[in-house]
Amino acid sequence: MNRILATAILGLLAAPVYAEGDAEAGKKTFNKCKSCHQIAGPDGEAIVKGGKTGPNLYGIAGRTAGTVEGFKYGDSIVAAGENGLVWDETTFVEYAQDPKTFLKTYLDDTAAKSKMTFKLKKGAEDVYAYIVSVSGE
Ligand code: HEC
Repeated sequence: MNRILATAILGLLAAPVYAEGDAEAGKKTFNKCKSCHQIAGPDGEAIVKGGKTGPNLYGIAGRTAGTVEGFKYGDSIVAAGENGLVWDETTFVEYAQDPKTFLKTYLDDTAAKSKMTFKLKKGAEDVYAYIVSVSGE
């Protein structure tokens, strides 16, 4: 709770340019994402092997939502990207906790849908730190 609060306060003071999460813990939690997501570098080599049901999560920090080339996204996440949704720690954590609700809120559209049905209740900030750490950022 304190950490969530601290993160929220930091977010209010200034957009943090570094990740607040624990990359080591995130590595373990990423096992939950692996069935659908890989992390593959710009050369296409898998840094972390995983499924392809979801888009490659490499370099997620600062990336516009719904923009991995060749991936067939749902309409809502593409619309969110077109409306300026960029992944940072805050948006990533909120999305991972409940993608559909996040998109509904972001787009202010109760009909918004998500192709990602998985919800990560806890530890999304750690996963974010982990992805950043293996993305060479
Ligand atoms: C059962 C499969 C599945 C699992 C498990 C899963 N995802 Fe996803 N994820 C998807 C799909 C499919 C999409 C594309 C969503 C859409 O098009 O609406 C997606 C999209 C995303 C995006 C948006 C990326 C972009 O390019 O804009 C992020 C971030 C993400 N997932 C993070 C995670 C994290 C973190 C985990 C683990 C905690 C996870 N996902 C687990 C299937 C999954």
